[in-house]
Amino acid sequence: MNSFSFYNPVKLIFGKGQLSTLSKELAPFGKKVLVVYGGGSIKKSGLYDKVMAELAEGGFEIFELAGVEPNPRLSTAKKGIEICKENDVDAVLAVGGGSVIDCSKLIIAGAKYDGDPWDFVTRKAQPQDALPLGTVLTLAATGSEMNAGSVITNEETEEKYGWGSPLSFPKFSILDPEHTFTVPANQTVYGIVDMMSHMFEQYYNNGTNTPVQDEMIEGVLRAVIETAPKLMEDLTNYEHRETILFAGTLGLNNFLQMGYNGDWASHNIEHAVSAIYDIPHAGGLAIIFPEWMRHNVKVNPARFARMATKVFGVNPEGKSDEEVAHEGIDRLVEFWTSIGAPQKLSDYEIGDDRIEDMVDKTLVYGPFGNFNKLHAEDVRSILKAAL
Ligand code: NZQ
Ligand code: ZN
Repeated sequence: MNSFSFYNPVKLIFGKGQLSTLSKELAPFGKKVLVVYGGGSIKKSGLYDKVMAELAEGGFEIFELAGVEPNPRLSTAKKGIEICKENDVDAVLAVGGGSVIDCSKLIIAGAKYDGDPWDFVTRKAQPQDALPLGTVLTLAATGSEMNAGSVITNEETEEKYGWGSPLSFPKFSILDPEHTFTVPANQTVYGIVDMMSHMFEQYYNNGTNTPVQDEMIEGVLRAVIETAPKLMEDLTNYEHRETILFAGTLGLNNFLQMGYNGDWASHNIEHAVSAIYDIPHAGGLAIIFPEWMRHNVKVNPARFARMATKVFGVNPEGKSDEEVAHEGIDRLVEFWTSIGAPQKLSDYEIGDDRIEDMVDKTLVYGPFGNFNKLHAEDVRSILKAAL
């Protein structure tokens, strides 16, 4: 393993009815709270009313930013920053999925900064201060509720990048599986694909002596693969929602990624796709990741073969590692397709006309990927295979 230090200050509050802790958790941070949410799902589900009732009971003064988009936009974060600055807001409460939480992370840092918040995303500046952030998660997918990452789209320049700072961790996150009951089938599938992709990004690494990490990732993946089809048949099943919700958080709270660097190339490629075409993040991953795998089997066939046998149940007898590896990737695609994920960029009517733009966007910081460094020709070939 590489030497490492691990830091994750998020208080995770998990289970049925945990929203009742909201006022107590927010109280230490002040009275003026900006509540950030998306396009209205929390109003339809009734969660908005419950959150407002909790906050009213706690005597908070409430400000609101509604309408955070999936693939949250810089302009929306700027609106939130304005509200915070104008009203001297004490804390931000994100109620929603990864997009709402990511947008809120930029708001808390931007509220304490005089420059353009895009500077944080492009790494021109590092936050020196931030407002406190609490979250009420409504969708199992990104892990944003328990990490410092935030992915923001600049709609004017068609750029989408991730950033993060020790100041962008939420102070607390409330996760009640019942808050995810209303997530529609397609978003449920995207969430499952996203969390599995996070585990693949971590699994494909060049670390040494990582048997504990390997077993943990394989175990969580097996639990997701076993639960996902049952959940798709029964979207309001508490136990299945609970399993998937917990898996999503573990998938990207960095517990699985100690002692080595994950790859993260597929995420970089997907962000370039959704920066231009504004498709759901995990819709893109379902298409890109298997092609990244096929492109990289030769880098370490044994690693892919291990995934195929331990997670996808491929029988390795009488086959080469490469054969086993490819069978495993085929099973992954079969699995994702069986729950309703897209397979090709053409499913989103994306053709080859802007491939070079996407290639350029992935390479703004140079060749990338820790398992295998990708250059322009690699990205081009992965995208073409995904068409
Ligand atoms: O906007 P509303 O009306 O709330 O509807 C949302 C949205 O349309 C809906 N939804 C959420 N909870 C619901 C619900 N509908 C019914 N009932 C509920 N309980 O689902 C739609 C998608 O929501 P979104 O927040 O966009 O999904 P997700 O959590 O998958 O977040 C995606 C964003 O996170 C970024 C992605 O790039 C994308 O921008 N990522 C963030 C990461 C991080 N911070 O660590 C890592 C990821 O790899 C990812 O890149
Ligand atoms: Zn992701």
